[in-house]
Amino acid sequence: MYKIFDTPHEASQYTARRLLTKVQAKADSALGLATGSTMEPVYANFIQLLKQASVDISRLTTFNLDEYIGLGGEHAQSYRYYMNQHLFHKLNLSGERVNLPDGTAENAKQACQAYSEGIQAAGGLDLQLLGIGSNGHIGFNEPYTCFSSRTHVIELSEQTRLDNGRFFANPNEVPTQAITMGIQDILEAREVILMAIGPKKAGIMAELFHGEVDEALPASALKRHGNVTFVLDREAAALLPGEVLERVVG
Ligand code: GLP
Repeated sequence: MYKIFDTPHEASQYTARRLLTKVQAKADSALGLATGSTMEPVYANFIQLLKQASVDISRLTTFNLDEYIGLGGEHAQSYRYYMNQHLFHKLNLSGERVNLPDGTAENAKQACQAYSEGIQAAGGLDLQLLGIGSNGHIGFNEPYTCFSSRTHVIELSEQTRLDNGRFFANPNEVPTQAITMGIQDILEAREVILMAIGPKKAGIMAELFHGEVDEALPASALKRHGNVTFVLDREAAALLPGEVLERVVG
């Protein structure tokens, strides 16, 4: 299902409301969370909605998609740091209810296996939030990642390092590897929301819309999932066919 909104603000409000509805319906929800600039206003709106509705989040569990290898949680570009700043600290979420892959684990392979097992032990993900890379990656599952993959270590593509360089003082500091939840882990989530905002995502969203299911385009795996909502603003949707654009809801 496509939901296309006039503005990024409306798109992020929609996604935040979906998160709220999920947590209200199931207090012990396991949420799959994402990072990136797209998600910042989503978390800001979500926090506001939770507070307005006085929702008890003490039974909530979260699993983030990915983390850079080599960056500890105190590093300003680590995804742990991002999540602390944008969501966890603001909601007083911590401890075992908050999960991210450990980019500093001594035994990365073991840490990866434990991460996927942890998701399963929590009963699976009720809702997985996704952004999309300009090369079609979801989490850090780069093109040609096997669709049956579980949490694993991945070599970041040049495109991804270039795209994410904007967050680092020196673009060469972008780590070369990351740990990411696998595509199979993502596909097992009961609901998925993929968000794409802004003109830089228009090309990949058109490719995704028209293309086949193919490991060359990781996000295309979602076409095999029965409950996915693609949430776009007008700019990210600009290259989609007219009949999809006519369904603008915002
Ligand atoms: C990173 C994350 C992805 C995210 C992507 C898009 O690469 N690993 O999970 O989807 O960034 O980020 P942005 O929202 O900043 O475009």
